[in-house]
Amino acid sequence: MASRGLLESPMRIAAASSSSFAGRLKLEEGSQPLNLKSTVRRRKSLKMSMTASLPREKQEAHVNTILRDDAASYRLRTRQVEHIPVENLEVIAAMDSWAQENLLPLLKPVAKSWQPQDFLPDSSSESFLEEVRELRERAKELPDDYLVCLVGDMITEEALPTYQTMFNTFEGVRDQTGCSNTPWGLWIRAWTAEENRHGDLLNRYLYLCGRVDMRMVESTTQYLIGSGMEPQIDQNPYNGFVYTSFQERATFISHGNTARHAKQLGEHKLASICGTIAADEKRHEIAYSRIMSKIFELDPNGAMLSFQDMMKKKITMPAHLMYDGANRSLFDDYASVAQRCGVYTALDYASIMNHLIKVWNVESLTDLSSEAQQAQEFVCQLPARIHRLAERSQSRAKRDSPRRKPFSWIHRREVDLL
Ligand SMILES: [Fe+2]
Ligand SMILES: [Fe+2]
Repeated sequence: MASRGLLESPMRIAAASSSSFAGRLKLEEGSQPLNLKSTVRRRKSLKMSMTASLPREKQEAHVNTILRDDAASYRLRTRQVEHIPVENLEVIAAMDSWAQENLLPLLKPVAKSWQPQDFLPDSSSESFLEEVRELRERAKELPDDYLVCLVGDMITEEALPTYQTMFNTFEGVRDQTGCSNTPWGLWIRAWTAEENRHGDLLNRYLYLCGRVDMRMVESTTQYLIGSGMEPQIDQNPYNGFVYTSFQERATFISHGNTARHAKQLGEHKLASICGTIAADEKRHEIAYSRIMSKIFELDPNGAMLSFQDMMKKKITMPAHLMYDGANRSLFDDYASVAQRCGVYTALDYASIMNHLIKVWNVESLTDLSSEAQQAQEFVCQLPARIHRLAERSQSRAKRDSPRRKPFSWIHRREVDLL
């Protein structure tokens, strides 16, 4: 039985599929069933062949073949890394004591931090099974398209190792030793530790609720971490902080909306879970946009050019290489459901730009170089353009009847795309 969308029927109880894991894979449109035994054998042979000294290029080709599993998302990317202006590195090098005084106070001490356990049934308590039963009862009210958004958000959080790796590519701020005592090193590790609770909490909720195919969800996470991400930051810390300011606000909006919808659906505990995560994202957004504000103050020309650069490249979502072993357009499908449900939309993208333009006082910057002045004009006009395009595509989507797609995460039940 197919489900209707969250927008059409907020209180709908979605039907569960009874088809088996192997059966489902065989039904996959245009794909071969994943042979788990042979995958295990292939990984073992990879390990053996890696120890037998193959030439480096052959080893790399072999690893790529093994990891790829026919996924288009694993295609090799060969774009040239852009050069970092030396002034950017000088500015970052001069910001150590600023980061110590302005950034680190935004972290929460562990003893005062919430933990996933605060929101979940306590497995050491006598009432554990009863609490799990109550959670599952409440989760029955969540429609399929809502679950797709929640799973996509959770998988995005679970790929945290990729984001820490990415952060450690930013020139001048990376954690050089893995326990470096610089304010940047401290921030990167403590930020990661705070973020780590987001995926843990959503994962445990989704596991206990019994509404999703956890094996497919977990496979997607494994594929995604293996794929990495390509935000085109090119090790430039200015680009990195534009990206992280944008992304933290995007996740604040997205978790905030899943919280709001959970409340409408009567799942108040899930509303509080998503709302608590959204509050963390907000605090992180303040940190990153504060760093960029300081960079705008110290080097307005360089900051302006990086802002333009990242906007021209377009901010790619961190999970854009998402894959579940079968669906090559999984990320686009998930993003389309999120857009349709109002969890994260193209209008939000424009509103984030507007917000950052305001926070960084971009419109009122004066005495810029002519190149930076052009960048300023470009950036300030962009949100209105994106807004117009988003409205046009939204009204087109309303005219057309929605496409439907099955999602492996919810036992291949179908949901409406935009
Ligand atoms: Fe997060
Ligand atoms: Fe975040």
